[in-house]
Amino acid sequence: MPTFRHVSLDRFGPPDVLHVVEDPLPEPGPGEVRVVVEASSVQFTDTLIRAGNYPDVRGPMPVTPGYDMVGHVDAIGAGVTSCKVGDRVADLVTIGGNATHIVRPAVGLVPVPEGVDAAEAATLVLSWVTAWQAIVRTGGLKAGETLLVHGGMGAVGQAAIVLGRRVGARVIATARASHADAVRALGAEPLDYRSDWLASVKELGGADVILDGIGEKLFFRSRAALKPRGRLVAIGVSSLAKSGFARMGIGFLFAIVIHPWLPGTKRSFFYGITQLRKKDPAPFREDLAKLLGWLADGSLKTHVARRIGFDAVAQTHRELEDGGLDGKVVLIPD
Ligand SMILES: NC(=O)c1ccc[n+]([C@@H]2O[C@H](COP(=O)([O-])OP(=O)(O)OC[C@H]3O[C@@H](n4cnc5c(N)ncnc54)[C@H](OP(=O)(O)O)[C@@H]3O)[C@@H](O)[C@H]2O)c1
Repeated sequence: MPTFRHVSLDRFGPPDVLHVVEDPLPEPGPGEVRVVVEASSVQFTDTLIRAGNYPDVRGPMPVTPGYDMVGHVDAIGAGVTSCKVGDRVADLVTIGGNATHIVRPAVGLVPVPEGVDAAEAATLVLSWVTAWQAIVRTGGLKAGETLLVHGGMGAVGQAAIVLGRRVGARVIATARASHADAVRALGAEPLDYRSDWLASVKELGGADVILDGIGEKLFFRSRAALKPRGRLVAIGVSSLAKSGFARMGIGFLFAIVIHPWLPGTKRSFFYGITQLRKKDPAPFREDLAKLLGWLADGSLKTHVARRIGFDAVAQTHRELEDGGLDGKVVLIPD
């Protein structure tokens, strides 16, 4: 019987719950295709899922992590006309990407140019689309404005710096002090996140748009760094990740409910890629296709910090939680 390999967890918990297992190869049902995965990311959001801190994934078990994937279609189910065996595709899958194969609805797949590197393409699906949509679609960033990116050496942060510069904005980015040169090389003015970055941003004139996936002090410090008509785009509360689901919920409550209603001319938004795509899949498809086009024509460079095999996934989760990585980690299934 043909089989496939995938990362799996039987219960939420620390990185040790992750195992590599072999199971019978699934067949696509009506409207579905099976994809041979070339590359899938291993990123901070996967650690939230693994720990049981991600509201959209509460079971059932077992769960295979991996929020995105790039690969080739190798089998199609009844009624599929939008793609054929051999097509190269990408998808935002939330779970299931860290595998040699995955079955997906054909309708959500985005074509991937044959010439691009699979790992670089995989970096675009979650992290770069998030960065683009959060700063441009939600934040309304324009040329000549100032963008503040928190976590500038992170997977989303690096994308936001590059894309903010591409829009024509001045970009300031917080990061650990040892990453200052790398942040500068991406095109941003670095600020040590352990320093009084708020005072420094104010000295630099404040920010028109802030991308905040950290949520430190429940986003109030970021809000204070905005210019009078500035826009805060909250995307996550990683600073609360180690304190558990309930406290993260309080962080999201502030980002989604409290901040948007605070009085004054400063505006606050919460951006969530999966929720937006569920409401309307068109912008996700359009933006991923645009980013893939830029990658294919050479006008966009992405940075893959590390390419790993299945056996390194659990260790990567540990490192993502401890901090200090310099960008995106991509699993190349072996
Ligand atoms: N809403 C959405 O649709 C969406 C989509 C994707 C991601 N996210 C969220 O976005 C956030 C970032 O994701 P990611 O994949 O880019 O994670 P990541 O790769 O782990 O990057 C996070 C970065 O933040 C830095 N950091 C840690 N503490 C900080 C602080 N106090 N101030 C400023 N920076 C700090 C880290 O630096 P060191 O490692 O050097 O300490 C790291 O470089 C997470 O909260 C994630 O859940 C949301």
